[in-house]
Amino acid sequence: MSSVKVLLHIKDENLRREAVDALRESAQQVPFEQHESDWTSLLEHLGKLKPEALLLDLTTVPTDLAVAMRQIKIHAPRTKVVALHAVEDPKMILAAMRAGVNEFLHPPLEDSLPTALERILSSVESEIGTASRGKVIGFLSAKGGCGATTLACHVAWELQNQTRKRILLADLDLTSGLVGFLMKTPSSYSILDAVKNLSRLDESLWKALIVENRPNLSVIPAPASYSRWDHPDENQLKQVLQFMRTQHDWIVLDLGRSLNSIATAVLEELDQLFLVSTLEVVALHGLKSIVHGLFDQGEKLQLVLNRTPKLMDISTQELEKILGRSLYAALPNDYMGLYQSYSSGNLLNSNTRLAQHFGLLASKIAGLPPAKAKKKFSLFG
Ligand SMILES: Nc1ncnc2c1ncn2[C@@H]1O[C@H](COP(=O)(O)OP(=O)(O)OP(=O)(O)O)[C@@H](O)[C@H]1O
Ligand SMILES: [Mg+2]
Repeated sequence: MSSVKVLLHIKDENLRREAVDALRESAQQVPFEQHESDWTSLLEHLGKLKPEALLLDLTTVPTDLAVAMRQIKIHAPRTKVVALHAVEDPKMILAAMRAGVNEFLHPPLEDSLPTALERILSSVESEIGTASRGKVIGFLSAKGGCGATTLACHVAWELQNQTRKRILLADLDLTSGLVGFLMKTPSSYSILDAVKNLSRLDESLWKALIVENRPNLSVIPAPASYSRWDHPDENQLKQVLQFMRTQHDWIVLDLGRSLNSIATAVLEELDQLFLVSTLEVVALHGLKSIVHGLFDQGEKLQLVLNRTPKLMDISTQELEKILGRSLYAALPNDYMGLYQSYSSGNLLNSNTRLAQHFGLLASKIAGLPPAKAKKKFSLFG
């Protein structure tokens, strides 16, 4: 996190001079920075800097203040806003407070600004750690066809089932995503629409972009067509993920296959990355090289073995020794079960052994006691 605690976006010269003088002369010596460009670049800068407070000259706000406040919250959810105006205007104060600004100040700022900042900075400290933030998990196939999409869909479904929380399943396999098809949630919108509209992304626009599969399980599919020219800006993509955290409790991403540019771009935003492989030599080779490339990710990276045959040529322990890492889960093979369910437009029947394993995997991810199964299963074998 940056050491700059306060960002100033002030056009009015007198106001700016007053604010800067008040900050320089205050006993707290709070580190601050001035931003002088337009609104869109202010939002981008806020997203990167995430200061604890924004001193905002109300005359610089290009839209309705309530909309502007939502945009600020998307880019920097914890940043407090101090609205500044040249004169004391009761109507404006009321509108600013209704829009959700934290403080409203007008000159003279010499005493009022340091006091307001002191209040804000102490409340920020007490809020740290308590803010609600959804968790982001991603499934990545070690090579094509290992089961990342199957796992993402079933785990998202199971997470909703078990936690009853707000789940989002997002297809970030932009070139050939199948999540929309498997979840029966076709849509004309994709994550790319959220990226393109980042500067006006708010709760209502977001609701228009996602599709509800069932209550509290929403889906945002991959685009219907994609070319390399559509490749999203990585920083903006990360900001969309940060926004998703404010709208959902769990965000499950299908990241496609191998360490592609999208998976790499969002890596920092993930709480957990599940690398899915089968026992096929080519898949294990891919798995090993990805594990090697992501050696610095520690516990964030977890390995899932999919389509594990009943009789393995190699024991789990031997495999873990070769990979230098333990397996998070090993899921059984049920090609026919999946084939039949997908052909009839459904996810896997919950009575099957593989579906029970999806349930166990979801409960392990959510930190819940294992979901009750009709028969006793373990995450291995
Ligand atoms: N545990 C399993 N047992 C049997 N078949 C499976 C299992 N998991 C996935 N499959 C099958 O493997 C195929 C590939 O699965 P899926 O599409 O989920 O993989 P993927 O890693 O997303 O592939 P892609 O690289 O094409 O995106 C599908 O036909 C799916 O039904
Ligand atoms: Mg896939």
